Amino acid sequence: MFELKEKRILLGITGGIAAYKAAELVRLLRRSNAEVQVVMTQAATEFITPLTLQTLSGRRVRQAFFDPNDEASIGHIDLARWADLILIAPTSADFMARLAHGLANDLLSTLCLAATAPIALAPAMNQQMWLNPATQANAKLLQARGIKLWGPGDGEQACGETGPGRMLEPAELLAQTIKQFNSQLLAGQCVLLTAGPTQEPIDPVRFIGNRSSGKMGFALAQAFVEAGAQVYLISGPVALATPTGVTRIDVGTAIEMQQRVTEHINRCDIFVACAAVADYRPKATAAQKIKKSREQLDLILTRNPDILAEVAASTVPPFTVGFAAETEQLIKHAEEKRRLKRVDMIAANLVGAEQGGFERDENALTVLWEGGSKNLPMARKEKLAQSLVATITERYHAEKHPTKDS
Ligand code: C5P
Repeated sequence: MFELKEKRILLGITGGIAAYKAAELVRLLRRSNAEVQVVMTQAATEFITPLTLQTLSGRRVRQAFFDPNDEASIGHIDLARWADLILIAPTSADFMARLAHGLANDLLSTLCLAATAPIALAPAMNQQMWLNPATQANAKLLQARGIKLWGPGDGEQACGETGPGRMLEPAELLAQTIKQFNSQLLAGQCVLLTAGPTQEPIDPVRFIGNRSSGKMGFALAQAFVEAGAQVYLISGPVALATPTGVTRIDVGTAIEMQQRVTEHINRCDIFVACAAVADYRPKATAAQKIKKSREQLDLILTRNPDILAEVAASTVPPFTVGFAAETEQLIKHAEEKRRLKRVDMIAANLVGAEQGGFERDENALTVLWEGGSKNLPMARKEKLAQSLVATITERYHAEKHPTKDS
């Protein structure tokens, strides 16, 4: 039961009799290894106590918008950013109406407005309330905006009536949650990624390299697995664990990385170059450690192959995605890089002392392709990777690249 390992679920609970089922839902999510942060509306606390949910989730339940203690620990914007998924179960008719109109008059509704994570609602209400044209119009509006509606189910209701409006059972909501993180949209596809830095040896103990933690590439590898793809990850030296389900191939230099890419590229449908490949390598590597006896040391460097450009220029290229880390004029330079390297997509981010990017846990990206672009706002790299994989998947399917036989 590790399906939701490291996934952060913000579970919103609104006022309705089905709120008692939220306790079981928290238990199931926790058992699947998710982190669960409960946020309750005032009305929800009439149906189930925050203490119950706090005990089950292992986290302090958030309720009040203006709680100086809460704001000090983690502000509402940070909380919105924290979540990989916002699941509201049960969702009342009132909450749907507030969300449809963009109201931000309590903590939960504000979080929904501030969130970049997907939002899923599990409606629960009397059947007449569900069938009311106002609720139906709100449901359609929310769905049109990309908010997911999980349920409601049909059947006997707490009020004694029978019809649509029952909240889905906690086990069904758990299954939907797992499905949400495992879209299978890339089932049967093969993805090759490069990640981390390369190290170009000067002598047996020294090297030239770029700053790169490999976090973004590893997070992408995990997100591709969750989308159902078979994933090969060619990684330079990094201190990261291999994500479950990923075939990892370790390399040291750019030449080694190029060789491994060449070996695997023909079976792959998507190639993502996330590695910070050293542009140059020492022309000769000293056999022994160079002694610091001289005042000046001249190194002759030679160009490394551009792995991404080579893959993009191959006879039957896969769908190619590159990264552009720029310190200024982000879009201009990234667009130039996209055209020059002839890649299908470029993910651009600002780097530098102020912007960070390299060794941080968070990042923001602007994704560019022929005739389109998308901003992926600042988020943890795991979450950003999911958004980027979703964008790549969309473009990949839109361009209908034929699947290669593996
Ligand atoms: O040219 P620049 O290094 O800025 O391009 C960045 C993109 O090209 C990244 O996707 C990087 O992984 C890829 N690249 C490569 N081989 C190189 C240099 C960069 O694949 N030698």
